[in-house]
Amino acid sequence: MANGPDVLNSKDTLSNEFMSPKEKFKLLLPRKRLELLKKMSDEEAARLDYDWEWNARPKQLSPDYMQSKATSFCMCKYLDAQSKTQQKLKLEQFPSCTGQTYNEVTVDEDGKVHAIQHTEPKVCEFRQNWQTWVLLAGRGFGKTRVGAELVRHVVDTGQAKRISIIAPTSADARDVAVEGESGLLAISPAWNRPIYEPTKRKLTWPNGAIASLFSAEEPERLRGPQFDFNWSDELAGWDPNAQQMVWDMMNFGLRLGKNPRSVVTTTPKPTILIQNLVKQSKDPLNHIIITTGSTYENRSNLAAPFMRQITQYEGTNLGRQEIYAELIDIEESGILKRTWFKMWPAKKAFPDIEFVLQSYDTAFTANTENDPTGCLVFGVFRPSPDEPHAVILLDAWTEHLKYPELRKKTQEDYRNTYGPGDASVDMLLIEDKGSGIPLIQDLQRAGLPIRKYNPGRPDKTMRLHAVSHLVHNGRVYIPESKKVPGEFVTWAEDFLREVCSYPNSPHDEYVDCLSQGLAMFRDQEWLSIDTPKEKDPFEDDDVWETDYQYVNPYAV
Ligand SMILES: Nc1ncnc2c1ncn2[C@@H]1O[C@H](COP(=O)(O)OP(=O)(O)O)[C@@H](O)[C@H]1O
Ligand SMILES: [Mg+2]
Repeated sequence: MANGPDVLNSKDTLSNEFMSPKEKFKLLLPRKRLELLKKMSDEEAARLDYDWEWNARPKQLSPDYMQSKATSFCMCKYLDAQSKTQQKLKLEQFPSCTGQTYNEVTVDEDGKVHAIQHTEPKVCEFRQNWQTWVLLAGRGFGKTRVGAELVRHVVDTGQAKRISIIAPTSADARDVAVEGESGLLAISPAWNRPIYEPTKRKLTWPNGAIASLFSAEEPERLRGPQFDFNWSDELAGWDPNAQQMVWDMMNFGLRLGKNPRSVVTTTPKPTILIQNLVKQSKDPLNHIIITTGSTYENRSNLAAPFMRQITQYEGTNLGRQEIYAELIDIEESGILKRTWFKMWPAKKAFPDIEFVLQSYDTAFTANTENDPTGCLVFGVFRPSPDEPHAVILLDAWTEHLKYPELRKKTQEDYRNTYGPGDASVDMLLIEDKGSGIPLIQDLQRAGLPIRKYNPGRPDKTMRLHAVSHLVHNGRVYIPESKKVPGEFVTWAEDFLREVCSYPNSPHDEYVDCLSQGLAMFRDQEWLSIDTPKEKDPFEDDDVWETDYQYVNPYAV
């Protein structure tokens, strides 16, 4: 993505195609500017401040707006990604998305002849019929401004009457989308400003259009009301556990009018929802348009301290995401890497298991809809007689369970045996908190070997960091798939995806099971990492290198 025409490097100056008419105007000679201004009435000149076509850079205009070179790459990029045959088909389906090119010849005051190439902007069918426009751009690109301006536009033109605006929290909806510097109140002209009723979380325009504000923390509020337009701001920043649900709820309600549409304005994070939207945009039938952009494109409107602060991240992964809006592979940004897990070859005899642990992350409260119980089963073994102990994953499952089912399942699973040697379970590890407390009591009463886990103060992320070195040092094995050589067993796939993409994964049951399980093995010294002894520079080298063994003369 970084090399495409859509992303500007810090060194680049904004080329003409990426500029707003206002920015181009500022580049004209003062004489020329005055000439143009003289042609306008004072009122017309004053209105320019609120004219989004005048202020917006091409990428900030909705996809159905006339295409310039700066925005046509979306389609070209899409076409690039297709196979040769598909390309042909798609090209026929969506004829050229860059319009006609023509040359204009001008003669300047010195009699010099200039040829300027123009491209007639045009809108291809694909962009005309967008239903979801996802603007993935760096911080400060002007995303919120785009969302607010588009809401203003659909209200002004009567395209929308019932709008939903969703922000990560209620405070964000109020402070950013409505009252922020690029929010709806700031960008609306006095003659068409909506009335804001904070207690009703509602904006009402003079023409009767209404926008309702929602927080992504309260998906339930989205159940029921219907809309004809949606603006989702900072979608990637919505609570990862509820992101998909809020998005689905919003879409269920987006069913008024002939052409309900949704605009998403966000700095991307590799969440599953964002990745899916990008994937789905490749199929034209989904009518999803993705536009990307970097912070630098809006630098003329950004304060110097902000630019200084953000450019500190230049060259880092966070910078790739926050400045250039690159969608970094979900697992690339995780704490654990998939390659750190060792594969136990399918062809090799399954190892002898010395100890079996079932590590639980329990959940059975009323909202079981959201929180499943997770369980990982580990076996302790020695990969070879001269290697230290390691653990191998023997099972992984998550399931939505009510309490009686959970108690029954844990008791039944305790009787499971694992591996060809039929190793039985030695210990159950359960967090001594919330839903784990009654389960621990019940299972202890039933005589099961329980170990309570108290996570203490560190948060989930810190707990995972604290054991990540064990995985990094190759002490955690997963069996190889018998069907697909070179891949881990399929039942471990969800586990791997979740723990390797954490903290960007939507769930964290397996993360908790893994952290607490490995912490216990570490504390019980099943898994200890010996730091290599540093050689004393003054020690006699010969003594170190000989295989000398002390023999007790009295014992011979
Ligand atoms: N085309 C534009 N012309 C003038 N100012 C702009 C333009 N686009 C954005 N801005 C301003 O730049 C600043 C950052 O924009 P904002 O929408 O808050 O960025 P983001 O949401 O991408 O972080 C705001 O003050 C906004 O009004
Ligand atoms: Mg914003």
